[in-house]
Amino acid sequence: MPVITEIEDLKRIYRRRVPRMFYDYCESGSWTEQTFRENTSDFDKLYLRQRVAIDMADRSTQSQMIGQDVSMPVALAPVGLTGMQHHDGEIMAAKAAEKFGVPYSLSTMSICSIEDVAANTSKPFWMQVYTLKDDDFMQRLFDRAKDAKCSAAIITVDLQLLGQRHKDLKNGLSAPPKLTPASVANMMTKVQWGLGMLSTKRRFFGNIVGHAKGVTDPSSLSTWTAQAFDQSLDWDRIRQFRKMWDGPLIIKGIMDPRDALQALNVGADAIVVSNHGGRQLDGALSSIRALPAILDAVGDKIEVHIDSGIRSGQDVLKAIAMGAKGTYIGRAYVYGLGAMGQKGVAQALEVIHRELDVSMGLCGHRDLNGVNRDILMIPKDFEGNWQ
Ligand code: GLV
Repeated sequence: MPVITEIEDLKRIYRRRVPRMFYDYCESGSWTEQTFRENTSDFDKLYLRQRVAIDMADRSTQSQMIGQDVSMPVALAPVGLTGMQHHDGEIMAAKAAEKFGVPYSLSTMSICSIEDVAANTSKPFWMQVYTLKDDDFMQRLFDRAKDAKCSAAIITVDLQLLGQRHKDLKNGLSAPPKLTPASVANMMTKVQWGLGMLSTKRRFFGNIVGHAKGVTDPSSLSTWTAQAFDQSLDWDRIRQFRKMWDGPLIIKGIMDPRDALQALNVGADAIVVSNHGGRQLDGALSSIRALPAILDAVGDKIEVHIDSGIRSGQDVLKAIAMGAKGTYIGRAYVYGLGAMGQKGVAQALEVIHRELDVSMGLCGHRDLNGVNRDILMIPKDFEGNWQ
């Protein structure tokens, strides 16, 4: 087994082990993928200030997200079809997160259901909720999350329409995968993945099949999002969801200060500055460049988190230094999961933690809670000078 020292090591193994259709689903953005690329490359434009001869012993990355203790402010983001990257993927990722002391968020588009993840874990996880037209489904989804003792709901507000990802259409992405000559030929080369899938019954969208009405092909992500998602979503509707859920609420998918203010007004406890990993509106700013203006607008009134583009502990450090209270990783842990299941997710978390901890020390800090923009060198035009 190769020595894992960075997230890229996990990605290389992941790429070999998982069918092309699911690798492509994870590793693409919409249209030209400009936003997908810049989400990561924009982190490189922020430089860290090295300090020396400052006591760097006994460091701590412990913090809180929405008032809950975390061993580092890095939650596992909700990722659709995780259970297709590795059998029982959501359960394995949730277990790794629980052991590490970071929050796990379960996607509405998961393969393992809410009940399944709850039955196989011992700490509360967060439930991500898509905004569907079917009111009964929505109420039941919140109720199911409550019964499962979820400790927060994350409403994703940037997917009224699905951004086009070319590869998913060309590959005929579905869960379970449709058997075509090309998909079968590719899957035959992924023996471990296939044996794992044969060993589990969890191969369908577990939160949807048997729960959502009026979906004719629940195996196809694009069909069911087109049929079930509420294109007419507005803030009044989000206010109704706020009433359906009385626990901590996180609103994810905010890229504009005006929308951040709206989220504050509906009574969210936190927002996630996110462009959905570059999978929705291509040509939008990277999340890290959008973050400062949003912090200026609402940063002292609501907790601001960020996702999209975080692949290393240094990215986490930069986001926290900029002023975010929490971060989320999606692809970075999926690489680990596809590479080696629960152990791979644990390795991804360990890699990120090591990078975060040592980089923080080299910037002259022992406690992540004391880190601020002083450790960053931010280019003058980082936010852009727009008309
Ligand atoms: C769903 O959330 C997706 O980005 O595919």
